[in-house]
Amino acid sequence: MPEFKVKDLALAEKGENKIYWAEKHMPVLSLLGRKLEKRKVFENITVGACLHVTKETAVLASVLKRAGAEVYLAASNPLSTQDDVAAALAERGIHVFAWRGMSKKDYYESIAHVIKAAPDLTMDDGADLTACIHGLYYEGRSEELDIVSSIAGSRKNLVEKIIGGTEETTTGVIRLKALEAQGRLLYPIIAVNDSYTKYLFDNRYGTGQSALDGIMRATNILIAGKTVVVAGYGWVGRGIATRARGLGAKVVVVEVDPIRALEAVYDGFYVADMRRAARIGDIFITATGNTSVVREEHFLRMKDGAILANAGHFNVEIDLEDLEKISRSKRKIRENVVEYTLKNGRRVYLLCEGRLVNLAAAEGHPSEVMDMSFANQAMALLYLMKNGNKLRKKVYRLPISIDRRIAKLKLETLGIKIEKLTKEQKEYLKSWEIGT
Ligand code: ADE
Repeated sequence: MPEFKVKDLALAEKGENKIYWAEKHMPVLSLLGRKLEKRKVFENITVGACLHVTKETAVLASVLKRAGAEVYLAASNPLSTQDDVAAALAERGIHVFAWRGMSKKDYYESIAHVIKAAPDLTMDDGADLTACIHGLYYEGRSEELDIVSSIAGSRKNLVEKIIGGTEETTTGVIRLKALEAQGRLLYPIIAVNDSYTKYLFDNRYGTGQSALDGIMRATNILIAGKTVVVAGYGWVGRGIATRARGLGAKVVVVEVDPIRALEAVYDGFYVADMRRAARIGDIFITATGNTSVVREEHFLRMKDGAILANAGHFNVEIDLEDLEKISRSKRKIRENVVEYTLKNGRRVYLLCEGRLVNLAAAEGHPSEVMDMSFANQAMALLYLMKNGNKLRKKVYRLPISIDRRIAKLKLETLGIKIEKLTKEQKEYLKSWEIGT
């Protein structure tokens, strides 16, 4: 029996059905997985992961286990774990430490269990696992590190064993590039997020759909006719803005980068600063990766009934300290919905404590999208196994050939044939002589 800590093992059967459903919608990962499994490529390898514990993550973890790995998995967010899936994973022999509603202490203790297992490869979503490993190595001190070292020990020699790691999300890649820029990154990282077959699909279509899914499941309000304010026009913001418009909302984009803001204008969205947007929005969705994007000055301008949701990785985008400070009272009125009555008498509704609404109120991205993201994860681990000793302590993207292979397989599973260049066209593209 593996080591594990989950809410209730009796939920495992329900979790199994969910995993079965996800697997059916993840043909690329399944296909690549079968190849890895046949060759047992991860025999004698311990994979330490910090990922959202969902049915899709279960498919990935099971592929790695069948390919020979010992898998240790901690939740990458206190509210994103699907407890039935976690139970099924424990029964499948995955060392899983995750349950919905864990405290900050539980969260870091779970990461500590993964570190204690001395992984050869790490797999992260948001870079908390990688940051803890680096914190222990550099003997940093913080509340989080004290929790981790109380279970994992100092673990300085851990780093020599690590071949490399992967990072799933934009926020995590930004953190790890900051570590690299300081010259303090201790092992190579593959930024899975930076594969085209990841961010163009997962960040855009995945979050675009799942963030609105979360808001609708939490509130059951009609989107049509509402004014939706989307903060951030990266790939996630684009996806959310496009889907909100598709549901009949008037969409206002708030963006700090002039090029992105201009794109939003030409994509047909209203663009404004948050002070102006605050007055007209019915629903606010943050997707910037930055802190205090919606704060006191904005809450105070909002209409009575405004809804606040976050789709970024961390719960820092909606300033909760400010919200508490300017509120007279608060009460939970539905699952995942807390009503704050402000000192000015208006009420605003915060979803999922400002944590990622798509995973906390819905099921995260649909399996079809995670199929490509997690095919990239599996290929990144294989790439590290093959090339880890040649890589430097840097953040890399996966080679484009692997990205193209995943896209090609996805098209094949969709039954779509694409055009091929003729011999003449190939020659033409290589030539310079022929002009007008
Ligand atoms: N991130 C967003 N959606 C996810 C999902 N369904 N599974 C794992 N990680 C996710």
